[in-house]
Amino acid sequence: MPEKPKGYAEKCMTAEQAVLRVRSGDRIVTGQGAGMPSVLLEALCKRDDLRKTEIFHVLTLGAAPYCAPEKQEVFRHNTIFAGASTRTAVQQGRADFTTSFFYQLPEWIRRNPFDVAMVQVSPPDRHGYCSLGVSVDYAQAAVATAGLVIAQVNKHMPRTLGDSFVHVDDIDCIVEYNEPLPELPGAKIGPVEEAIGRHCAELIRDGDTLQLGIGAIPDAVLLFLQDKKDLGIHSEMISDGVVSLIEKGVITCRKKTLDRGKCVVGFLIGSRKLYDFVDDNPFIEMRTIDYVNDPQVIARQDNMVSINSCLQVDLLGQVCSEAVGARQFSGVGGQVDFVRGAAMSRGGRSIIAMPSTAARGTLSRIVAQHGEGAIITTSRNDVDIVVTEYGAAHLRGKTNQQRAENLIAIAHPDFREELRRRWRALFE
Ligand code: COA
Repeated sequence: MPEKPKGYAEKCMTAEQAVLRVRSGDRIVTGQGAGMPSVLLEALCKRDDLRKTEIFHVLTLGAAPYCAPEKQEVFRHNTIFAGASTRTAVQQGRADFTTSFFYQLPEWIRRNPFDVAMVQVSPPDRHGYCSLGVSVDYAQAAVATAGLVIAQVNKHMPRTLGDSFVHVDDIDCIVEYNEPLPELPGAKIGPVEEAIGRHCAELIRDGDTLQLGIGAIPDAVLLFLQDKKDLGIHSEMISDGVVSLIEKGVITCRKKTLDRGKCVVGFLIGSRKLYDFVDDNPFIEMRTIDYVNDPQVIARQDNMVSINSCLQVDLLGQVCSEAVGARQFSGVGGQVDFVRGAAMSRGGRSIIAMPSTAARGTLSRIVAQHGEGAIITTSRNDVDIVVTEYGAAHLRGKTNQQRAENLIAIAHPDFREELRRRWRALFE
């Protein structure tokens, strides 16, 4: 680490000292994913003297002790995306859910600034700039507007480039604490995911720019792109699979019509391989989510292809991606931002990919009608192509009858006849 910048040493303290600056009733925003300031949250969760203190973040990879039932009087979690460790609290009404397109989050933060921002950053460079590293997304807006900024400075946080920088002068409390970033193990890709990956890859052409989500399906898609040429990346997030394709020369970003020569990304979740790859790497341009996910920005990218997943689709093409019935499972994330952006992009396409069944094959994810109270994420007017392991159903510009036929053709064979019968009973 270069010589510490002016004013740095005076701001250094322990995590316990830093969180003493939090008052009851404060609204706290933290970085997300692999960028969560874990040492600060651990220290905060020891403060049982606080009352009704809000903790807002999007995705978390680790534990969320502030969501424990016994912490109800102390903390109230609020999110636009439920994850594994926060989902139960959201579903049981012990945590709040605020619905929002991801691209609108920074503006919402600017209009409703938080009292405290807690982030994790890389050590400062010789000019006094720390990098927000793997989580730039809404963290930049949080830091710019919060009344108090507390930063965990971690030498394992990569120094990513782009809109990622925060100056030491803009940080109030510094907690030096080195720990490896959380890593996401590679998803398990079985024959179903492989078939989905192959069908998606058939819809991708040389020179396309891609957005991919997280998990087995995006990873499977990347496996089948090895023979493509000059792909680009403009994506809310990326993971390890993208690094392999960059190293093989498949992703060059040469044909992008916006940010040519750069992978534009909002946040990163993967293994140490990814975190090392992005460190000081000018090919990776971290941008805030109100840029990356803005449908009007995405639209300026010709041949934009978005690939996201969902839980259930009805025969009209209405897509449920974030809830099982009315029970919140995740959130809209960037799905609709990219579906709409891709629709406005010259040559753009959006793909919603899912296995044809759930619950070990006992439930069809393609249904005649959604159940009562179902939360629709992507409307039938926005949906473009739906993919399962049985193929691709093109829905844009199709009649209701054609939509139903195309969707039934990619449903699991065991459910096709029943879907036909239900369709006829409902609409014919
Ligand atoms: N009915 C009942 N249960 C269902 C179901 C359905 N139609 N579809 C899925 N499930 C169950 C699964 O069986 C699974 O249960 P299990 O964990 O007990 O096995 C669970 O719901 C999760 O399903 P799965 O397909 O494994 O989810 P996933 O982890 O692959 O995530 C989404 C899929 C759709 C939830 C996720 O992609 C998402 O949140 N998308 C919305 C946001 C988005 O697209 N962001 C993109 C930009 S990053």
